[in-house]
Amino acid sequence: MYRTRTCGDLRLADEGLIVTLAGWVQKIRKMGGMTFVDLRDRYGITQLVFNQEVDAELCEKANKLGREYVIQVTGTVRERSSKNAHIPTGDIELIVSNLNVLNAALTPPFTIEDETDGGDDLRMKYRYLDLRRTCVRKNLELRHKMAFEVRRYLDEQGFLEVETPVLVNSTPEGARDFVVPSRMNPGQFYALPQSPQTLKQLLMVSGFDRYFQIVKCFRDEDLRADRQPEFTQIDCEMSFVEQEDVLDMFEGMAKHLFKTIRGIEFKKPFLRMTWQDAMKYYGSDKPDLRFGMRFVELMDILKGHGFSVFDNAAYIGGICAEGAANYTRKQLDALTDFVKRPQIGAKGMVYARVEADGHVKSSVDKFYTQEVLQEMKNAFAAKPGDLILILSGDDAMKTRKQLCELRLEMGNQLGLRDKDTFACLWVIDFPLFEWNEEEQRYYAMHHPFTSPNPEDIPLLDTDPGAVRANAYDMVINGVEVGGGSIRIHDSQLQDKMFKLLGFTEERAQEQFGFLMNAFKYGAPPHGGLAYGLDRFVSLFAGLDSIRDCIAFPKNNSGRDVMLDAPGVLDQSQLDELNLVVDIKK
Ligand code: AMO
Repeated sequence: MYRTRTCGDLRLADEGLIVTLAGWVQKIRKMGGMTFVDLRDRYGITQLVFNQEVDAELCEKANKLGREYVIQVTGTVRERSSKNAHIPTGDIELIVSNLNVLNAALTPPFTIEDETDGGDDLRMKYRYLDLRRTCVRKNLELRHKMAFEVRRYLDEQGFLEVETPVLVNSTPEGARDFVVPSRMNPGQFYALPQSPQTLKQLLMVSGFDRYFQIVKCFRDEDLRADRQPEFTQIDCEMSFVEQEDVLDMFEGMAKHLFKTIRGIEFKKPFLRMTWQDAMKYYGSDKPDLRFGMRFVELMDILKGHGFSVFDNAAYIGGICAEGAANYTRKQLDALTDFVKRPQIGAKGMVYARVEADGHVKSSVDKFYTQEVLQEMKNAFAAKPGDLILILSGDDAMKTRKQLCELRLEMGNQLGLRDKDTFACLWVIDFPLFEWNEEEQRYYAMHHPFTSPNPEDIPLLDTDPGAVRANAYDMVINGVEVGGGSIRIHDSQLQDKMFKLLGFTEERAQEQFGFLMNAFKYGAPPHGGLAYGLDRFVSLFAGLDSIRDCIAFPKNNSGRDVMLDAPGVLDQSQLDELNLVVDIKK
């Protein structure tokens, strides 16, 4: 037997036992005639002791160990004289009687500690070493537990896990596809699924009723902290359901996860907010509701007083930051610079402080009487000590998005975005279509299989932009953790959708003929949702990037720096695939 116990489980009660451990050398310290080694495995760290006076040869062998050597030791558990309260095994140590070096190791390129000296790139290149760090390993343990609880919950609810293929054709989730050339079909390509959307709908036609899959999805899109080119969905679909049934089921799943994993019980139903309200009051379809600072629109109050910036604006709105009136001029200038950054694009920012006596002092005082400023203060229900920040612009949606960035920044600055507080909500009633100004055509906001709100079906012919979708997103702390919809199950309505989306009959048939044909053989009403597992885990772990809960993630250029992928193909592989590479600069 390589080991009889692990490095994490010996306690005082084990004193006197003879045990064998195996693991990695974390640290070696020599003190006088003694050598102390921290031995690490997945379960923890145990201190090993070698005594020059007791066994000089053995101690000499220990002195030759290096960091990350793999060793096996046998020894006797003894109470420590100087205990370490920081680790669970801190009351004991192992007096080693036998040391076996299983494998030597090169000195690692960075320290294998929670606080490491390794930069991001280096850690990604040696990700297998990075994964030895407790703080990284814990994220993967959490991921495992969450996936396990997801399966437990869904299994109890009668869901079947069904695998769907990875080599498919284009799926319409709105990103670019990753494609794979087919050797057996020269000139033809598979696409990797952006999600198993159409396949899970086909499973409903097959009568599977309740399907789920923890599944890899692939999207070739610009990467951000919460986006990876391959990521994992908890993909679900149900038959004979309405929106309410789906929300109920998956709110139940979120609550189950919060309870079993984080020990948090949400007794009340999650808040629901229409997309319209989310945009109006928070400038985002994924509002972070850990804090207030709801937008207040100020057109009625601030227009028409001779301040041309506001007088010419299509939108004027602001937020009230409680207790922030003590912001200095320098801080306010920095905020103005923040909103003027090209990524945000505001032209400027107006501020107003509510002073101790209730008087309002603003950066545009010369245009406004105190009376008007008081009216504004009341619109925010602002109190002495509060700071009001205002943006305006000629495009309401754009300005709201800028104000959203400012709100989130103020949330950060005022410490209102605590990672252990969770604000969950459903955003509902998304528009069915999104107008693309450049291409002068509609796009499906969710995907083309999303059902319109039945009440709005007549508007499909007259005012498509006003049609609400039977679609919903789950938002936690400003992160879209999941989204779904009730689907169209009627082939005529689906036809109409494709037409509105600018598909010719031939193209619709070519791309989605299989689905539309399937619907002609008895499709049940159905709907579903997919949660992003990586995002869910990183929220629970309090991570800034989903990369940290993925064993082998890609960097921001979509590269796996450890595997050095993507890479070029040998000429023989290209020939076999009938491919000629001609890189256009
Ligand atoms: P959607 O495109 O909204 O819906 O995706 C569902 C959830 O997947 C996560 N997600 C991502 N996570 C990491 N990196 C990415 N690049 C990425 N893209 C999406 C998000 C998102 O909420 N087929 C539909 C679902 C349905 O209608 O049932 C779909 O894929 O958390």
